[in-house]
Amino acid sequence: MRRVFIEDIEPGMIIARTVMGADGRPLLTQNTPLTASYILRLRAYGVGSIYIKDGFSDIEIPEVVSTQVLNAVSNQLRQSMETFVVRRNFDVGAMKKSVALLIEDIMANRQVLIQIDDIRSYSDYLLLHSINVAILSIMTGLSMGYNESNLMDMGLGCLLHDIGLISIDPSLLERPEELNANERQQLNQHPEIGFNILRHYREISTTAAHIAYQHHERVDGLGYPRQLTRRQIVEYARIAAVADAFDEIISDHPYRRGYSITEGMTILRSLNRSHFDGDVVEAFSLNIAIYPVGSLLRLNDGMIAVVTSVNRRNQFRPLIQVIADAKGILLIDNYAIDMSKERDVQIVHRMSESEAQEVKENIAARRKHIAVG
Ligand SMILES: [Fe+2]
Repeated sequence: MRRVFIEDIEPGMIIARTVMGADGRPLLTQNTPLTASYILRLRAYGVGSIYIKDGFSDIEIPEVVSTQVLNAVSNQLRQSMETFVVRRNFDVGAMKKSVALLIEDIMANRQVLIQIDDIRSYSDYLLLHSINVAILSIMTGLSMGYNESNLMDMGLGCLLHDIGLISIDPSLLERPEELNANERQQLNQHPEIGFNILRHYREISTTAAHIAYQHHERVDGLGYPRQLTRRQIVEYARIAAVADAFDEIISDHPYRRGYSITEGMTILRSLNRSHFDGDVVEAFSLNIAIYPVGSLLRLNDGMIAVVTSVNRRNQFRPLIQVIADAKGILLIDNYAIDMSKERDVQIVHRMSESEAQEVKENIAARRKHIAVG
């Protein structure tokens, strides 16, 4: 399967991953062939990209958090936020249950890595962004040896880290790159607003409330709102800052396409030395697949293989399917290799997105040729 941006979507393409709607129900389900009217619907809905089947890397990818839990948490969070807007109060108990559900799934799927670019519509950004920051932070916390009570505490703060945005004009969020000084100043108030909301809840620890206050601070003192430096920023917020930045980089926005997780990791590492806590970035990166499922690899015998499964225990030796020869000609008898067992097989390099695209198009054209011939 491959990610296609909305401008390049064509009728007849087959959906490889269900596109979720704002209410947690599927907008278009897996295996649906796209029609012109479906494409219009996706556009109207603010979906920036989707996954389509490409015929040879359409592999089921294990999820860190099940769709069921994701839906339950997103419904609960939506309700809480709606109630909050009206009554200025939310049910922290229900929120804690959501965090517990996330932790339970993440711990049960501890071998699973983040290996797929997350796709969602712009309209759900705040909701799904909050959940993603919680998931990524919990995974990072686990890699740093956090116990369950720390994970709960931090997870709750992460789920609510952007709660201050509720008081900010939503149109500012859609064009952050072109805000004037006044608008920028308004937007930059959301951490403090959020902190002032959260600190009134006895069930939320002061440290967790500081995630809202400090998630835009940077260890080099170049963040906001208070230009704190490393030692002044609580560890929870140093973790949330990395998760928040990464999720922002890989998401589609009205003003910019999302980057892939591999590109996202490269960008994060390049900012690492100055902006983020290096130890946190290291712990974070342990949870992101180096060779995500579906990526194309060049092997030491020249052959081309696609990654079919990865495991945290042995990230550099995934399960692969050899699909083409050195010239990119599709093998009639493709075969699987478990690299953790066959030690002679080496990965020379992972193909760049454009290189992989070329190989995939070549293979698709040859397939068509064979079918016609
Ligand atoms: Fe924020």
